[in-house]
Amino acid sequence: MITLKDNFGRTFPYIRMSITDVCNFKCGYCLPNGYQVDKSDNRKFLHLDEIKRLAKCFSELGVNKIRITGGEPTVRKDFFDIIKVLKFESGIQNVVITTNGYKLDKKAELLINSGLTGINISVDSLNRETFKNITGHDRLPEILQGIKNLQNLGFENIKINAVLLNRVNSSIKDFNNWAEYIEKNKVDFRYIELMRTGDNLDYFKKYHVSSQIFKEYLNKNNWIYQTFGKDSGPSLNYINPKFKGKFGIIAPYSKDFCKSCNRLRITSRGDLRLCLFGNTGINLRHLLKSNDQLNELKDLIMKQMQFKKESHYLELGDTGSTKNLSKTGG
Ligand code: 5AD
Ligand code: SF4
Repeated sequence: MITLKDNFGRTFPYIRMSITDVCNFKCGYCLPNGYQVDKSDNRKFLHLDEIKRLAKCFSELGVNKIRITGGEPTVRKDFFDIIKVLKFESGIQNVVITTNGYKLDKKAELLINSGLTGINISVDSLNRETFKNITGHDRLPEILQGIKNLQNLGFENIKINAVLLNRVNSSIKDFNNWAEYIEKNKVDFRYIELMRTGDNLDYFKKYHVSSQIFKEYLNKNNWIYQTFGKDSGPSLNYINPKFKGKFGIIAPYSKDFCKSCNRLRITSRGDLRLCLFGNTGINLRHLLKSNDQLNELKDLIMKQMQFKKESHYLELGDTGSTKNLSKTGG
């Protein structure tokens, strides 16, 4: 039973939780100069026991899926412990992560053993040079090898996300490269439209392009739009019987994007964020100190639901308090 409901008829069976702001990549749209240590704040990210209490609370509020994000979540020393605790002690069945794939080749087996049920890997290009230019790291081969290792171990739920960047990874050749990849691999590939954040205005102006170009490609190449059930979230999915994987589009600027919103966010410092781009959010940490606070925490979260807005205001140029996505994990 999902108890989390807002004033617009949406329910929230899904939580995205950032466990660190730290990232070891330098993606041009996110952290072009890499992660900068802010000496004033000591990086007080949620502790394992706080994460466990929060997840348990959400589980009792009907949440059945949690996504762990960063920054890059795997940089945390206790990363595998976090996944294990979530999977085996929180009551939430579906535990997934979003990662940049750093050293994925070496981590594949550990990931599976920790009980992970799904993985989203950011791969902005299948071209090694382009990948290096976007992320600042020449690590495409190890990531692709990591995906192979996961597949060889029988891991099923693999998704790849790329941010669509005008004239960087938006050509027909790029699209065909991905098509070839998912023809043979049971991996779902999705383009995310570049989002404007507080930090990336010039980058946004230079590289933002509507996902319409990819939609046209899909229509031309006999991909069939798939309508999903209520819980599928804001991604548009396309299938083609000749291919093992699916294609998808995440277009946050499109009309109706927010209608299918099914997630709430927790920042690495324990703020509940009702929308990726909203200013609304409160800190929950004072209620994460002991197990006795569970009911109080539940009440506070439920009361917050009435403040969830119908939509973001991105199209008006309002990026909320989001400077870049390394704090909230996209
Ligand atoms: N626009 C779109 N996607 C972004 N990501 C990070 N910053 C942005 C942005 N400005 C994506 C990453 C990754 C996920 C964590 O968020 O590529 O897939
Ligand atoms: Fe790191 Fe992800 Fe930001 Fe790239 S998009 S710099 S991988 S947090």
